[in-house]
Amino acid sequence: MDKIRITGGQRLNGAIPISGAKNAALPLMIASLLTDETLTLTNVPRLSDVTALSRILSNQGVDRTVAGKRIGQSAETGQTISMTARQIVDTCAPYELVSTMRASFWVIAPILARMGEAKVSLPGGCAIGTRPVDLLLMALEKLGAEIVIENGYALARAPKGLKGGEIVFPKVTVGGTHTALMAAVLAQGTTVIENAACEPEVTDLAACLVKMGAKIEGAGTPRIVVTGVARLGGAHHAVLPDRIEAGTYAMAVAMTGGDVLLEGARPELLQSALDVLTRAGVEIDSTNEGIRVRRNGRGLEAVDVDTDPFPGFPTDLQAQFMALMTRAKGTSRIRETIFENRFMHVQELARLGAKIRLDGDVAHVEGVEKLTGAPVMATDLRASVSLVIGGLAAEGDTTINRVYHLDRGFEALEAKLSRCGALVERISS
Ligand code: UD1
Repeated sequence: MDKIRITGGQRLNGAIPISGAKNAALPLMIASLLTDETLTLTNVPRLSDVTALSRILSNQGVDRTVAGKRIGQSAETGQTISMTARQIVDTCAPYELVSTMRASFWVIAPILARMGEAKVSLPGGCAIGTRPVDLLLMALEKLGAEIVIENGYALARAPKGLKGGEIVFPKVTVGGTHTALMAAVLAQGTTVIENAACEPEVTDLAACLVKMGAKIEGAGTPRIVVTGVARLGGAHHAVLPDRIEAGTYAMAVAMTGGDVLLEGARPELLQSALDVLTRAGVEIDSTNEGIRVRRNGRGLEAVDVDTDPFPGFPTDLQAQFMALMTRAKGTSRIRETIFENRFMHVQELARLGAKIRLDGDVAHVEGVEKLTGAPVMATDLRASVSLVIGGLAAEGDTTINRVYHLDRGFEALEAKLSRCGALVERISS
């Protein structure tokens, strides 16, 4: 298993290109199952989650071509992937494939919508709480599906096709909203989704579905109305920039000090996080090219944060922000409201010298004078990058084990950071 070694203490200066969003690319790829025509996605990040999902989709019958290299393209420029599900040859997505990535469970919606039946293994994914799929299945039931759970699989059937209905989510769920959307676009009649997730990745999926011929109103608001159509066609769609990657590098610059332009990042996608950084003493400027992040000389102030659904502070930036607050003046209170048990990074940050006390869903982070390098373990995707941020500021060497978590969600991380002056290297085993 690969490791990453970071020698801390370097400021970051330069530019970092922001990749396409993993959390948008995955549902967009899954949407290719809804049509027998070709869906072409540009700006798809090179990530192991994308590769794993491609494998699942090809098992269902999706043909895939990846465009060759173009002038000016580097390893960090997103890929162009064309996907065609001329026929769905298998309505079963097996355990061996689905268990590695939770989002792959979402294939249940388009397979069911198109074929009238689907059998999908219950998911695996990051160990950040129980993360059930009850609300995803509830949404499908509201559209007329019959569902049974058997031998670790969800079996969904709607032999006469799905029918529009009213779906009221008792809590905001991104995956639930993606699933409801992909089922409703091919259902007969009108579907109303209440308390829908407003995350930009939901809006991006809806925009692509509309290009494919779907009728959707209200995406990006808590009430989405879908009028079902008999069939969808092909489309071209560019994956939106990754707000979590942008926020992560913004926090890295805030941590080390320096001046970095996050190329292609869109401030409106992460305004709450940018506001928090401003309150912590970081200078943020939006330019035509992206977001410029600077901290020169000034110390970091402690800021309290609660994670919340969009447009609130994203849970996917909670670990990174906690790493940052380990070096702030004073004590910061960070409350995780989306996932229980999303504090696995706490004990690893403690290995770098952080002082963090957990009290239920709240972490009290007392800023310290310095962090010191140590061997640490990546436990999940976002937790692992918080250790990178810690390591960039720690004295001496930090070695991060189980780097495959990082490869799931951060494209060319070492290259992007090294170019800005960080001392980061991958040790392949
Ligand atoms: C997505 C993101 C993930 C992000 C999360 C919250 C992708 C690939 N992943 O995950 O990075 O951290 O949104 O912004 O886009 N819940 C239930 N029952 C369900 C579904 C969810 O109780 O059937 C709960 C979850 O346990 C959690 C909350 O709802 O407490 C929100 O989860 P959800 O928004 O569904 O997260 P994901 O879509 O899995």
